[in-house]
Amino acid sequence: MMMNRGGSNERDIISILLVDDIPETRENIKKLLAFEDHEFKVVGSVGTGRDAIKSALEYRPDIIIMDINMPDMDGIQATNEITKLVPASAVIMMSVQTDADYLKKAMQAGARYFLSKPVSPDELYGTIREVYKNHAPFRQQAYAMAMPIDAPARKAAVSEDGSVRAGQVVVVYSPQGGAGVTTIATNLASGLMKKNIKVLLIDADVQFGDVGVFLKLQSQSTLVDLIPKVEDLDTDFFDSVVSTHESGLKVLLGPMRPEFAEEVESNPTAIAHIIEKIASGYDFIVVDTGRRVDELLLSLTDIADKVVLVSTPTLSGVKNAKFVLDLFDKMSYAPDKTIFVLNRVEDERSRNRVTIASDAIERHLKRKIEAKIPVNEAVILSAVNRGVPVVANQRDRMKSPIKELMDLADYIFNKLIADTTDEDEDKSSQNTQKKSGIGLRLGKS
Ligand SMILES: Nc1ncnc2c1ncn2[C@@H]1O[C@H](COP(=O)(O)OP(=O)(O)O)[C@@H](O)[C@H]1O
Ligand SMILES: [Mg+2]
Repeated sequence: MMMNRGGSNERDIISILLVDDIPETRENIKKLLAFEDHEFKVVGSVGTGRDAIKSALEYRPDIIIMDINMPDMDGIQATNEITKLVPASAVIMMSVQTDADYLKKAMQAGARYFLSKPVSPDELYGTIREVYKNHAPFRQQAYAMAMPIDAPARKAAVSEDGSVRAGQVVVVYSPQGGAGVTTIATNLASGLMKKNIKVLLIDADVQFGDVGVFLKLQSQSTLVDLIPKVEDLDTDFFDSVVSTHESGLKVLLGPMRPEFAEEVESNPTAIAHIIEKIASGYDFIVVDTGRRVDELLLSLTDIADKVVLVSTPTLSGVKNAKFVLDLFDKMSYAPDKTIFVLNRVEDERSRNRVTIASDAIERHLKRKIEAKIPVNEAVILSAVNRGVPVVANQRDRMKSPIKELMDLADYIFNKLIADTTDEDEDKSSQNTQKKSGIGLRLGKS
């Protein structure tokens, strides 16, 4: 059940991350290690302390060879963070500075060895082998307690305040128009917000986006302001563009007028890049999309952890859903990347039902419907009129479609965060460990 990602059993090659602000130094070490490529593999090579943390989280290398003097964050500070965040990795400090004070600081930060520059090939190989061997118990323990968060490590980054979050991206889409994408995206975002869970809703329907209308949110700043800054986006600027709904939900609004959409469309992958950059500041990012299949949409579905495909139980709905499912197939998305949701479902016993029965749809698409959201104009309308997500009305939790929308949020939460479904009763300490993975704030204490 537990992901033994990069576990030690099938491992015979030692993975190594190189950290040094001088590219030549990294190249030289890399060349030395390449002579022994049956034994060592360089999985990353970065020039700053901050990138070191990011790459350590991403690759979980067995060994990190770390320089001390670097701009932004020095090697000692980076080691301090890494030994807390990625205990499976062992840090070997390497520096021209060899005085006792540096050595002491390096060891206090959790480094396993101190090499002085320049290093001879044999000294390098021998040290890596020995540190790898000595670190084995820590590695095994770290994997045994591995957090349940699966995919997000690739996106993990360290935000300004030092916290790391799950950064799961859920894209809600329908090629239909009017199928209920915005309704489901806003409710999903709201439903995913639990204690200590940070959610961001992004309106990426750049032409007809109406998240602002649904949530009665107005803001002078929208994601259009972020596009020119996409290359060097910083958290402060990002935060200044994000709006906060009265429920606490963070919302990145789309272009205010359709003509502003051009700016996004001339740089269609910008939104996906923005998401990748800020993902680690959130546990979930829910993305509302327009109906078009274009580069913007596909850049979003590419980076998504889950795509919620919405359809209505109508002929055109099913036809459109089939088209999208085939497309995702061609793009080699894993079948379980897509969550197929039927919206505006009528009571199947109803006499004047005009829609297609769900079992017929499942047979035709050869896919399970993972959620059915009943049609209920009154409930949906009253929520929109008040500018709150339907699910925010906790009093009516058992009422359709509030219950179904809440259930969908819980379903996705469980799929993405933990295998809690079959382990809920298991109150072992290990399980507690696993659950603490989400929303865990890794402060710089
Ligand atoms: N389950 C439902 N029952 C009743 N009305 C719904 C339901 N889902 C969506 N609607 C309504 O249908 C309309 C279109 O929904 P919307 O979420 O804007 O779709 P999309 O974003 O796919 O265009 C809205 O007026 C919305 O309130
Ligand atoms: Mg919409």
